[in-house]
Amino acid sequence: MKWLSVVGARPQFVKVAAVCRAVAEFNLSHGTAGRSASEPVIEHKLLHTGQHYDRNMSGAFFEQLGLPEPDFSLNVGSASRCVQVAAMIAGIAPVIEGERPDVVIVYGDTNSTLAGALAASNSGCILAHVEAGLRSGNRRMAEEINRIVADHVSGLLFCPTHNAVENLKREGIDRGVHFTGDVMLDALLRSVEMIAGETMDRILIEFGLVRDGYCLATIHRAENTDDPARLTAIMRALDLLGARLPVVLPLHPRTRRKADEYGIPALGRVRIIEPVPYFEMLALEKNAALIVTDSGGVQREAFFLGVPGVIVRDETEWPEIVEQGMGRLSGVETAKILSAADALLSGPRARPDPAAFGGGHAAGKIVSILAGASN
Ligand code: UD1
Ligand code: UDP
Repeated sequence: MKWLSVVGARPQFVKVAAVCRAVAEFNLSHGTAGRSASEPVIEHKLLHTGQHYDRNMSGAFFEQLGLPEPDFSLNVGSASRCVQVAAMIAGIAPVIEGERPDVVIVYGDTNSTLAGALAASNSGCILAHVEAGLRSGNRRMAEEINRIVADHVSGLLFCPTHNAVENLKREGIDRGVHFTGDVMLDALLRSVEMIAGETMDRILIEFGLVRDGYCLATIHRAENTDDPARLTAIMRALDLLGARLPVVLPLHPRTRRKADEYGIPALGRVRIIEPVPYFEMLALEKNAALIVTDSGGVQREAFFLGVPGVIVRDETEWPEIVEQGMGRLSGVETAKILSAADALLSGPRARPDPAAFGGGHAAGKIVSILAGASN
């Protein structure tokens, strides 16, 4: 069986790492009967669109997660949405045509997801969407459009939560839908185990931080960064929070560019650092007293690690986190972000129940369903 995974942005490297590992386990357990030892049961190839390209946004993830060099690198780089998606499709389509994979797998909701899904649709191969069925209800977000399109052209839809399954039902999609759990939980559990102890301690010391003694923040969603009023209000909240406890902000390049463009003044009480690689990020997350974020991945990781999170958005695709009391949706007003932070810092810590996210066995389920469908 030949499979092709299409990735391109930071969170997708984490997701595909879980799938790569499950493919390797499947190949090991299904042996090489009838094949030469070098011929795996599943031949899994990787295509990197090049949407993210800085070392700490891409290469460092490949190294830490033990990902192989991509078989195909399109190097499309940054551009406006339409130009970027068009360049990706133009690069992915000939790879699909030349390789003729049985399965194309796309992940999440980025422009790389959309391009992979469109290039694979009507190509004769099975199109599988990992992280299917999530909805924010906000169609002004490019990610919402990317998800909807990917879901509606996919033949197999792997849902991280039961809510996602219900969302698809509401849109009339029930064939090929599977609740598998969240591959990001698989990746997190394995990586935290790998870095527990000395590595985790060393990372904390390198950043000069103490356990439970700081707030970790990430802000990068276009809806927040591309609106001067929203970005200013969020930055002001982080600065005020900095009066209460140290705030560390690994700054996404989009946010840095926009803050410079709008002339948002330097924040004296926020420690702004470059984006950090995945292991460093997990260490910073696990030891934080509080996480403030608009990231889909970081809000879940906070939840999985039992760290309270302020979700700086008006809605979330992950309502389970809010329902379980681990996260608060604050919106973007300065006062509301601060009061959500206050409530979480002073209240009792809720206990996360990761069973709602599949308990860390998502990738294995995905691989065995795909193997059954593509054999
Ligand atoms: C993209 C995804 C978003 C996801 C995020 C993960 C879309 C529509 N958005 O947003 O859903 O949450 O990735 O981080 O696909 N840049 C660099 N170096 C890089 C990559 C980007 O400097 O390695 C800068 C460029 O100025 C670029 C900007 O960041 O224009 C935005 O990058 P882009 O990939 O378009 O969107 P993200 O904001 O990263
Ligand atoms: N991440 C990281 N370093 C950072 C910021 C995020 O390693 O400086 C990781 C984070 O732990 C998670 C993934 O990147 O695994 C989330 O990506 P991001 O927030 O960029 O995108 P989203 O999940 O919102 O699509």
